Amino acid sequence: MKKTVILVAFVAGLSFTAKAQYKVVTTRPPMGWMSWFPFIDKIDEKKIMEVADAMVKSGLRDAGYKLVQLDDGWMAANRDAQGRQYADTARFPHGMKFLADYVHARGLKIGIYSSNGMKTCAGYPGSYDHEETDAKTYAGWGIDYLKYDACGEKEKHTDRELHTRMSKALQATGRPIMFEICIFSSGETHLWGAEIADMWRTGGDIVKFIERTPEVTYKNWYTNLNQVVGKENYAGNGHWNDPDNLIVDYPRNNKQTYEEQKAQFSLWAVVSAPLILGNDVRSMSGATKAILMNKEIIAIDQDAATTPGARLLTDDKREIWVKRLKDGSKAIVLFNKQDTDATLTLNFKDIGAVEKVKIRDLWAHQDKGLFSRSYSAKVASHGVTMIKLKEVK
Ligand code: GLA
Repeated sequence: MKKTVILVAFVAGLSFTAKAQYKVVTTRPPMGWMSWFPFIDKIDEKKIMEVADAMVKSGLRDAGYKLVQLDDGWMAANRDAQGRQYADTARFPHGMKFLADYVHARGLKIGIYSSNGMKTCAGYPGSYDHEETDAKTYAGWGIDYLKYDACGEKEKHTDRELHTRMSKALQATGRPIMFEICIFSSGETHLWGAEIADMWRTGGDIVKFIERTPEVTYKNWYTNLNQVVGKENYAGNGHWNDPDNLIVDYPRNNKQTYEEQKAQFSLWAVVSAPLILGNDVRSMSGATKAILMNKEIIAIDQDAATTPGARLLTDDKREIWVKRLKDGSKAIVLFNKQDTDATLTLNFKDIGAVEKVKIRDLWAHQDKGLFSRSYSAKVASHGVTMIKLKEVK
């Protein structure tokens, strides 16, 4: 018994020391946009500049979406004579420093992508054995964020070892560069992710084989949401579980209903996921903007307590998710799993609230008033009700 206690304390102490060594860039989940879902690897300077402009004009930047991230496909097919990666000159004629300056001038941050193997997942040059050079190159361009994948040949090295190499190389540049671990084939990265990174993917791509234009339904995000369950305690305060990008307004073969897309946004906020857009922000409908710029829900994701929420209950019909907030209130999501609309009920005793509670509906932007014992709401099929609940003493 005694031995176990000492061992636990020892292991806990070790992981605390390791965590403390990695300097996070910010304590809140990152918010921004990534090029992979809208453009696959067909990215170029013009598209990215238009995206940066659209982020400002649409109000996304001011709502908190500050990152513009170039995913796979930005690099030239080979390294230069000094062994450095550089942007494909046909698609990025002015180079990456120019693009970084353009993005920065609009009050945004710029992110980039590479892989720990010899090639990226789409077959471009990866960073294996070039970690220091690449980290210095990125810092020199003014890059603020690196998504680091796990594709390509790596001569028997483990992903953990190689991601650690890149993390150290980035920190050694002295430039604060946010680091995302993307090991889509592993569900275990949360066990060590916080030692070396700001965030880590908790599982597979939310839409797989995108070039084959698969049908995208609520099941895509529901599968990825389930990969976060049980990992909540590994995240918080500057380290985040990442169930992959938002597929609200996903641009190809999107079969989700409006209510299903609201549901993904709500659940991503409750688990404190990074809010990374996967749509073409240059052409968004008012309805899409109403989801992505729901300030009350963004505030739940970004709450100052920086503690992810968790699933409290799941059965055939519904799920209840709860996140504790800094001001003592709770954000609650009631998710209707059924193929028909239904009335869902939250019993306050299930969330430890015994007296009266005050409720605000975060989609209706409406105070609902005081309730005792329970709260019921009509919820669309695969949709949610999202409320903020405060106990009244
Ligand atoms: C992997 C990642 C995706 C994307 C592609 C790019 O599949 O999980 O998010 O970055 O690689 O090739």
